[in-house]
Amino acid sequence: MFISCDKCKTKYKVDESVFKKPTLRVKCSKCKHVFTAYKTPPKQDDAPYVLDAAVQKAAAPECKVVCICNQKGGVAKTSTCLNLASSLSAKGKRVLLIDFDVQANLSLLLRCKNKKSFFEAMGDDDGDLTKAIIKTKHGIWLLPSNSRMALASKKYLNQEKFEYFLREKLERIKKVFDYIIIDTPPSGDFYTLNALLASDLAIIPTQCDYLSMNGVSHIVNMINVIRNKTKHKLDYRGLATLYNPENTVEKVVYEKLKTQLGGKMFNTVINRDSSLQESHIARLPVLEYDKDSKAGQQYLALSEELLEI
Ligand SMILES: Nc1ncnc2c1ncn2[C@@H]1O[C@H](COP(=O)(O)OP(=O)(O)O)[C@@H](O)[C@H]1O
Ligand SMILES: [Mg+2]
Repeated sequence: MFISCDKCKTKYKVDESVFKKPTLRVKCSKCKHVFTAYKTPPKQDDAPYVLDAAVQKAAAPECKVVCICNQKGGVAKTSTCLNLASSLSAKGKRVLLIDFDVQANLSLLLRCKNKKSFFEAMGDDDGDLTKAIIKTKHGIWLLPSNSRMALASKKYLNQEKFEYFLREKLERIKKVFDYIIIDTPPSGDFYTLNALLASDLAIIPTQCDYLSMNGVSHIVNMINVIRNKTKHKLDYRGLATLYNPENTVEKVVYEKLKTQLGGKMFNTVINRDSSLQESHIARLPVLEYDKDSKAGQQYLALSEELLEI
């Protein structure tokens, strides 16, 4: 294979076996620039998963629907979706990810950009989501998102019971998965409401700072309103992400969050870890990027805690 220097563009022929990880730091012998080289990305197999055949064979396991939500952006919602799904899949669970964020970051990380989404499946396929579900290379299935998802609010917000669309469509699909995990946008719109009403559990990732604590209160209030108005049995758990235990403020806020959520906080915390950022560049779950990384091991621990709920 060939790699080329970012700066002087000199090309080098290297053997793939020099890559112990999906990326490699290399020094250009011509201009002395140090750059990151990438192992050739795997080709995405985007053959649609034939759900009907699987539905017939499935033994109807107990499917748990989990949404990852917080109206604050940048709190690791998408990172948590991908890595929790990958950890559950490593434990032999069948996992479907639903990208419900119009930014489509989860679809981008799974190399499924500009594919058919929930929006097209609702419009063109009569609500048959199985037509849009893709099997990824990581043992995880994905219902992708794309920019057209932004049109759904306008199209459906004034329709009766619009907030139950996803829940209704998932009934059939639930038979073939152990877990369905939904990534949500940083807002309380059509998608977040649909995700919350389709879920058994909401995971609220949060950084340990003052403004993030405020974001947690917002989403917990929203969950409580849903529980009171609809009798929907929706539980929730907070998850400390991007956590730096050496920072005193973060330590204090973490303890406050535990009190605020009255025990509904995961014991596992996800530390800030550069491996996770690197895994995004390589577009891999962090466990596949570096199975010994701190973030990889912490997401595994999180999946174990989730299995016990
Ligand atoms: N454990 C972590 N360590 C370091 N960086 C992280 C970690 N988790 C997430 N990030 C980074 O934080 C940013 C926001 O993460 P993302 O998952 O996109 O959040 P959200 O979906 O809530 O907007 C991304 O740049 C991501 O690479
Ligand atoms: Mg996101």
